[in-house]
Amino acid sequence: MAARKALILGSTGQVGTELQRSFRGYGEVIAWDRRQADLIHPDEIARQILREQPSVVVLAAAYTAVDKAESEPDLAMAINARAPGVLARACAEAGALFITYSTDYVFDGSQAAPWRESDGTRPLNRYGLSKLEGEHLVRQAGGRYLIFRTSWVYGPDGKNFFLTMLRLGSERDELGIVADQVGSPTSSIAIAEATRAVADRMASLSASEAEARSGIYHMTCGGRCSWYEFAKHIFTQCEDMLKGRQPRVRPLTSEEYPVPAIRPKNSVMNNQKLADTFGVRLPQWQDGFAQVLHQLRLHQH
Ligand SMILES: NC(=O)c1ccc[n+]([C@@H]2O[C@H](COP(=O)([O-])OP(=O)(O)OC[C@H]3O[C@@H](n4cnc5c(N)ncnc54)[C@H](OP(=O)(O)O)[C@@H]3O)[C@@H](O)[C@H]2O)c1
Repeated sequence: MAARKALILGSTGQVGTELQRSFRGYGEVIAWDRRQADLIHPDEIARQILREQPSVVVLAAAYTAVDKAESEPDLAMAINARAPGVLARACAEAGALFITYSTDYVFDGSQAAPWRESDGTRPLNRYGLSKLEGEHLVRQAGGRYLIFRTSWVYGPDGKNFFLTMLRLGSERDELGIVADQVGSPTSSIAIAEATRAVADRMASLSASEAEARSGIYHMTCGGRCSWYEFAKHIFTQCEDMLKGRQPRVRPLTSEEYPVPAIRPKNSVMNNQKLADTFGVRLPQWQDGFAQVLHQLRLHQH
């Protein structure tokens, strides 16, 4: 059997950074950043995929500036829809498994129950629209592919709510945080570990079995909270990192915190399909948080 080779795209992102850790020992691992693989030019990356002949490509790069996407819809579409479509086609041609990520923002948030893969989509913003179009184009490309819809991603590196709270919490005495949107904070570490576990599982299957398991899977940490509750959790768990402050957290409605892109009220997703198909389940969000905190403290020492 040929040696396994993983190609990770988006090596500087939150998930891309953790994938480089979780794919250790997979075989050969190549990780490219924007300079080596710009999604504005997906045909060039497709050619590189055909040359490298990886066994798996994990696309963790994306246009993730949710509010900015409202004023740059064409750019968001090019990066989040056209590029994954082209790369998935190249993978189908090269016989590689294509893995990428989508979002809870494909849903409108209107139902009370956790969202299942079979529920109808209706994005409320341009970012969600571009990710949904990316899902369609990847599915059309055929071959073996996995689309993991995740939500509220944060980790020890990069730009995210957790690190923003740590910064603001050490500067201010009071913060107003949205309390009427609920979701499942999902750590980049948990996503990367689950991605590796599923990739291994897919590699152990025949090509036809793997193809039959291709599809969309929800992949978030367990449990739910609002942004307000998440902020309070961060401040109680990270007291020692706030430079002696313990900011008061004030609950806000979405209307009291206007931003360009509308967010769904209920982002919670049902992860049963991932568990049933691959035996993979992410930790509860509080446990995922403890793992991120541990990693951050290690970095700081
Ligand atoms: N963050 C969330 O809350 C969230 C929620 C649901 C789903 N997701 C999805 O999860 C996946 C991983 O997200 P993340 O939070 O890890 O993202 P992230 O930290 O924002 O990183 C985005 C990555 O994409 C790269 N990138 C942007 N434009 C590019 C281009 N034109 N060419 C090549 N690379 C480009 C960035 O490179 P630079 O460093 O050079 O900018 C960066 O490495 C994405 O598919 C995202 O849509 C994220």
